[in-house]
Parts: sequence; structure tokens; C-alpha cells
Amino acid sequence: MAITNMRRRVPDHVPPECVWDHDFSAFLHELEDPYLSGGRLHEGPGILWATLAAHGQPAWIFTQHALVAEGFADHEKFSSARAANNVVMDPNWMLLPVEADKPQHYYYRRVLVPFFTPAAINARASAVQELCSSLIEGFADRGSCEFVSEFAAILPNAIVISLLGMPREMLPQFLQWEETIIHGATIDERLAAGQAVISYLKGFIAAQKASPGTELAQAIFSGKMEDRPLNDAEILGLFYLLFVAGLDTVTSTLGWIMRHLAADQALQARLRGSPRDIPAAIEEFTRAFGVSAPTRTVANDLVFHGVPMKKGEPVLLPTFLAGRDPRAWPNPHVIDIDRKPRHVTFGAGPHVCLGIHLAKREMRVMLEMFVSRLTNIRIPEDGRVEFHTTNTIGLDRLDLAWEPA
Ligand code: HEM
Repeated sequence: MAITNMRRRVPDHVPPECVWDHDFSAFLHELEDPYLSGGRLHEGPGILWATLAAHGQPAWIFTQHALVAEGFADHEKFSSARAANNVVMDPNWMLLPVEADKPQHYYYRRVLVPFFTPAAINARASAVQELCSSLIEGFADRGSCEFVSEFAAILPNAIVISLLGMPREMLPQFLQWEETIIHGATIDERLAAGQAVISYLKGFIAAQKASPGTELAQAIFSGKMEDRPLNDAEILGLFYLLFVAGLDTVTSTLGWIMRHLAADQALQARLRGSPRDIPAAIEEFTRAFGVSAPTRTVANDLVFHGVPMKKGEPVLLPTFLAGRDPRAWPNPHVIDIDRKPRHVTFGAGPHVCLGIHLAKREMRVMLEMFVSRLTNIRIPEDGRVEFHTTNTIGLDRLDLAWEPA
């Protein structure tokens, strides 16, 4: 590595026009809206070498929809194996199937697929509805709530707990671990919270093995890698990803949807009068409010769209930049539910989100219930909106007020 005249070290092969000497997370926080902050990158190159891309480490960042989509699809160039410079994941544990490549990926994913089909999620619909309803009943008459802590964080946690067959009393503890994994003051604190989740999961897995266990647990225990049984580390990796994948992603997305809706009375009225438009609204919301930046690792030395990259270098695929690329969508910052976008917020290619139907169901039930039960949903004049840009782009606080319908 050579030291350039930049503030931070940049590998020799990185073309100068790609070097972006910024802290990505801080950059996303510069304006009042992280999507507008990120949108400024669409004026520059589609491929950046960010000196501080995530957690103090450098990485390539693809800023345009077409490049992010290619990054997801081309698993031969971009491996899902974790990059060596990832400092927030304990190297002892894998997240499966998301950190596996072909051919192993297929075997891990197929164990979980039956539990996430549209039919399997339909069978859970009443659980999602009951939970949503009881949360809304808890605050509807009050005329206000802090949406993130009273709704958006609880719903996905409670659903994942029921999906995995864990005790409901664990909810406060799960919320605490999740909070520390995202907001822990130091990397050590975040790693310790991840370790606490692992310890809990190990105990849970042992108890599931000793008892008949849930159908999901039984399917994982009898899963196969080609013709051998899955080992303990693989079983833990599958439970670990199921535990983390559907929490903060959903919380963050619900938050941004509701923040938008609270500022768009016309859309509230349209969805109230025409609930059949809600699925189209969800497609547009998810295009515009991507929350994650999945990572890849350059599989071999290569040249991608004219840019030389070296084996092992990390790549970020920020779905929140892809979804606001003006090359893919005119007026990308405008929410237009008639747009019917084909976006990459849930990924694309072999690793496309397994929980997509569950996530969309949670969004749909939330939207149906909020617009049918409450009117004039808004952010009150003294209301606060706070967000974070580490890990996911998500809201920490969203004050809402309304009148009961
Ligand atoms: C709005 C909510 C969600 C968003 C935006 C989201 C986004 C994503 C994205 C972008 C990927 C691809 C990652 C990659 O290619 O590296 C992914 C994968 C995955 N998601 Fe989601 N997700 C959401 C909700 C959920 C839920 C609720 C679950 C399940 C409880 C879930 C389970 C998974 C799993 C298991 C994978 C890995 C699939 C594989 O590697 O084959 N997700 N998700």
C-alpha cells in the first residue's frame, strides 16, 4: 500500500477519480434526511473507494441502481463471504445462508425456504394482525405515540420470537440486545451484545434438540449439506441469521414509511379510501426507503466497469442509494405509488431476501390498521424525528399524533 496525499491510506490500484475520502455514515447524516444526503452521490462516479465506508474501514461503494443490481447478481465476481476487515462480526460465527456462496448456499437456503413461502406467511397472517391490533389499541385513544419504541421495534421482534418458538417474555431482552448491537458506544460493546445473542441461541438450540422442538427447528436439525448432516456451527449460523435479519430491517422500514405518511395527508386519504392500493404503496415505499447496505467481497483480481479491484476487498451495495438513483427513476425523491418500481431493496439474485413476504405482510397490516383506525396522522409541532446511519438507515424516534377515525 502506498500513502497518497489523501488523509487516509488508499491502495495504489484505486483510480484517483474513485477515491472518496469521507466517513460514509457521517456523510449520510449531514442533511435532515439521509436519503437526500445519499442522493448527492448520484452526481459523482458510480464506483467509489470510500476511505471510511463502515465501522472505520475502507470499502468500494456502488452508488447506482444498475451497479448495485449487478453486484447482487454476479456472485462469481462478488462473493458473499465476509470480508477480512469486518470488525463488528465475531469471526467465530457465520450468518447463514447469507455469508455462503454457491454451491453451499443452496443447501442452507433450501432448509428455510418452506417456512417463508407466501402460503407459509399467509398461515401466520392472523398472528401478525392480532399483534398489530393489540399494539395500536394500546395507544390509539391517547392520540399520540412514539412510533419506534411503541410499535416499529416491537412488531418484528415479537413476530420473530413467535416464528422461532421462543418465549414471549424474552422480548425486552431482545430489544435491549438489538439496541446495543446497533447503538453500542464501542465496537467491543456491540460484539458483546452479539455474543450474548449467540449464548442465548446455543441454549435455545440445545433445548429444542432435547424436546420435540418447533417444525422450523426440526427442519434445521435434519438439514443436509450435500449428503452429510449440518454441523453445530452451521445450525447456529442459520438460527443467528433468522434472529437478526428480520428485526432492524423491518423496524427501520416501518419507521420511514410512517414518517412519510405522517407528512402526506393525501396519500393517507387515498389508502384509507382504497386499501387495494396498499400493495402498490409498499412497492414504492420499499424502493424509496431502502435501509441496508449488504456487503460483498471481491472474489478475484478483476476490472469492473473499467475499475481495477483486488481479491478480498469489501464492496458495499447500498440499497438506499440504488433506490434513489435518478438514472433508474425520474424524480427519485418523490413518492408516487403508481410508479410500480422493480427495485433491489430486498436484494436480487441467489440471496434475495427470504423474509420478503413476511416483511411485506407486516407493512401491509400496519398500513391497513393505521389508516383505517386513525385519521390526520401527523408529526406534532413539538414532535421529534431522530435517525441513525450505522448498520441500517433507521429511525430512533418518531413522534406521531392523530385523531381516532
Ligand atoms: C423490510 C424488511 C427487510 C429488508 C429491507 C430486507 C433486506 C434483505 C436484503 C437486501 C437481503 C440480501 C442480502 C445479501 O444479498 O447479502 C436479505 C436477505 C435475507 N433476509 Fe431480509 N430483509 C427484510 C426482512 C426480512 C425478514 C422479516 C426476514 C425473516 C425473518 C428476513 C430474512 C432474510 C434472510 C434469511 C436472508 C438471507 C437469504 C440468503 O442469503 O439466501 N429478511 N434481506
